[in-house]
Amino acid sequence: MMQELFRDLQNVAPLGFIVLDKNHMLYFANSYMVTQTGIGNDAAGREPASIYQGIDATALAAVLRLCDDYAGKAVIADDDHTQLEIHIQAAGETPRVLHGLLYFSFIDTDGCPYYALFFCEFPPRNTSPFHKSFSRALQEIRQTRIDQQRLLGELECANDQLLRSDKLASIGQLAAGVAHEINNPVGYVFSNLKTLASYVRDLIKIVDTVEDLDSLDEIRRLKQNLDYQYIRSDVEALIQESEEGIGRIKRIISSLQDFSHIGTNGFCAVDLHQGIESTLSIAGNDIRQKAVIVKEYGQLPPVECDISQIKQVVLNLVVNAAQAIATTGTITIRTGTKDTEAWLEVEDTGKGIDEASSQRIFEPFFTTKPLGQGTGLGLALSNSIIQKHQGRIEVFSELGKGTRFRVWLPIKQAAAKEPSNAV
Ligand SMILES: Nc1ncnc2c1ncn2[C@@H]1O[C@H](COP(=O)(O)OP(=O)(O)OP(=O)(O)O)[C@@H](O)[C@H]1O
Ligand SMILES: [Mg+2]
Repeated sequence: MMQELFRDLQNVAPLGFIVLDKNHMLYFANSYMVTQTGIGNDAAGREPASIYQGIDATALAAVLRLCDDYAGKAVIADDDHTQLEIHIQAAGETPRVLHGLLYFSFIDTDGCPYYALFFCEFPPRNTSPFHKSFSRALQEIRQTRIDQQRLLGELECANDQLLRSDKLASIGQLAAGVAHEINNPVGYVFSNLKTLASYVRDLIKIVDTVEDLDSLDEIRRLKQNLDYQYIRSDVEALIQESEEGIGRIKRIISSLQDFSHIGTNGFCAVDLHQGIESTLSIAGNDIRQKAVIVKEYGQLPPVECDISQIKQVVLNLVVNAAQAIATTGTITIRTGTKDTEAWLEVEDTGKGIDEASSQRIFEPFFTTKPLGQGTGLGLALSNSIIQKHQGRIEVFSELGKGTRFRVWLPIKQAAAKEPSNAV
């Protein structure tokens, strides 16, 4: 590196520079410096203050300390602490002074630090046009560098915060939703269990009485006291309600598991139409009872995707479409390509989505469906899946007329994707 630096700077006249080694001894002087001072490179290894007239050892030490502090950056000789001078007194000529201009340290390929000190004849506060523009340029470079570093710092900080807040927000949103959704069924299943436990204790009492039974009257009395008829009917209701609550919790948990499994399977180039067909066959009767399914398939090349995940997306869209249709209607499924992307579309003639809801449909747990019908995870999950595929979902909806969801997928995935969990 040093060789290149020397080669490039050697002939920048009238600019002198010397290089000091890690012990602050002269290592090299460029030809301008040698000519001006009469001190050649045979003086290498000696202390600059002892060979150059006018160099102040204390000021030099301060400059070198600054160079260490700002390693790799230039220190500009623009104040009293960074002024270095070399006095030149050639025989018969008027005395002249070389003024320190800028200094910097660098590590060469041998791993050792070196110091480059630049000098020129005009003093740093000289008013010559060359000096003025030179120092203005240096000043601007320094300011730009300070600005850039500040901006870079701010950018890194902002990026960090954004990543963290985005991730935290989605984890927080999901966690709050899970807590909210699960809290209610857990609450009543828990209280049902307590009541059931007390019923079971009473029933055991009745059964135990049978053991040492003196008369049937005794058991009748006990049955009456414990309100056996009520217990009998309530036990069944409580068990049914608890089963329904546990079922809801199970559904939520399995949807959440779908979230965490996104991206764990491989991407393969497959026939999307086949995927759609097999989804429609499982979606089955519920949908067909409500809607006529119209297929308008275009020409599709094999699309690189995780087909089991894409089938899940299609299922969510088709089920939503059917649920949006109050009595009967039509669900149209279309496919096509544009440039390097394939798309698939599910359109319904249902009730449409109002403006306020349309802002929130991809939020986990956002649902407008009655309790027990929707968990509000379908579209959030579908969106995560499509994002993992580097695609996107578009929604077009008209209240009272219907809704069209269009899923875009790249035909080829841009790069091999690391499996990762989505939240
Ligand atoms: N085709 C559609 N027509 C009208 N509204 C829709 C349609 N698809 C989605 N929505 C609206 O978006 C909401 C969120 O849909 P999403 O699929 O995420 O949850 P969900 O269907 O309510 O519940 P889940 O899918 O978990 O059973 C729905 O409750 C509904 O209000
Ligand atoms: Mg849904």
